[in-house]
Amino acid sequence: MSAPLYTALLNHRNLGRASFHTPGHKNNPLALPQDLLSLDFTELPDTDSLFEANGPIAEAERLAAKLFHAERTCISAGGCTLCIQAMLRLAAPNGGKIVCSRMLHRSAVNAMALLDIQPVWALPENIVSAVESNSDAKAVYVTSPDYYGQLLDIPAIAQACGKEDIPLLVDNAHGTHLMFTEPKLHPLALGASMTACSAHKTLNVLTGGAWLNIADNRFADGAKDAMALFGSTSPNYAVMASLDLARAWLEAHKNEYAALQQRVQHIRTVAQEHGIPLPGGLTDPTRITLNTASIGLTGEAAAEIFRGAGVEPEYADSAHVVFIATPFNTESDFVRLEDAIDLLPARSPLPVGAALPPLPPVKTGLRAAVFAASETIPLASALGRIAAQAACPCPPGVPVVMPGEEITKEVLGFLQGYGFFSIKVLK
Ligand SMILES: Cc1ncc(COP(=O)(O)O)c(C=O)c1O
Repeated sequence: MSAPLYTALLNHRNLGRASFHTPGHKNNPLALPQDLLSLDFTELPDTDSLFEANGPIAEAERLAAKLFHAERTCISAGGCTLCIQAMLRLAAPNGGKIVCSRMLHRSAVNAMALLDIQPVWALPENIVSAVESNSDAKAVYVTSPDYYGQLLDIPAIAQACGKEDIPLLVDNAHGTHLMFTEPKLHPLALGASMTACSAHKTLNVLTGGAWLNIADNRFADGAKDAMALFGSTSPNYAVMASLDLARAWLEAHKNEYAALQQRVQHIRTVAQEHGIPLPGGLTDPTRITLNTASIGLTGEAAAEIFRGAGVEPEYADSAHVVFIATPFNTESDFVRLEDAIDLLPARSPLPVGAALPPLPPVKTGLRAAVFAASETIPLASALGRIAAQAACPCPPGVPVVMPGEEITKEVLGFLQGYGFFSIKVLK
């Protein structure tokens, strides 16, 4: 039998690496029942139907809403992407203007294009002033935490939104567990109107399981229709059941997060002793982001050393390696990670990247730019052309040009500095 993907997964499993990537269950048999295959059913009279739920799915959603102190919670088996699509649909059903943090996932860019939403871009540090000067916006959309675990000042943004009566939508893909940390850092607890939570990234949930949490009850009634607009009519029941099980697990094990935070803090200290600085600003206390550039190593090079030591990180870029730790990592995973940190060669720091260029002027609406005919051309000849795709060097992980924006001299130089050679532009 030839089954290349299945074989690749078996081979990967045989490596036996400590998993510091998604999914949050870490394939740990304590995280979920082993017989989920036998529970892969469909809509039957006694199993309920996701978009017309009035039985066990509705009850599972009610219990999840209670746990997250939400007015309404909807299950997604289509990842956080489906929750983001629904959130934007609810806040701007007929398109229009929203204030949007420049730090965002491509699922949001695509959803905005589909819904004909025109974002007013703001750098993460300028969201509050952007809200104040765009009081006619239909919503404010931000990502917090980001991939590196950095958190925005959600209370300040929520206060600015509250003054203008603008709903605050938060892509909380990486922060579902933040309702259980000390302090509580979940954006719904800090004033967000809706949050898209990629539960599978940090909880014991199968890949694809997510929750849309709604605090503002103006959006509660329309939530299912908004989810159904984008979602598959065949949601995976094992994924949905894993969300229900994770919710039940969390109810009984909230205190696991105190132990996890302590363990992560210890690893951060080990890294600091090795010359890697502690993360600055407000961060997710369970995320381990190592700035390896500070000891002269690119994140990619460091990730190879971690893999060699039997540790699989979540993500690496030119300056960082990111590890997702959850209560389903074992003590031996953590020890392996600490031992691997000690293997990193310490040299002089890599040069710090150039400052972000100014946001380029918008020449074409987002929807028009995403759906227009485009071509890929050498970057060197792209001056003055209009981008058809976001270009996002990491770090900083903030797109320097978005679809519909002009490729300015500054943007071009910045991208060349990051080794970009080509770019997709409008024809
Ligand atoms: C910040 C952010 N938002 C949204 C998503 C999409 O989440 P999902 O893969 O659950 O659809 C991701 C996925 O990596 C993400 O990193």
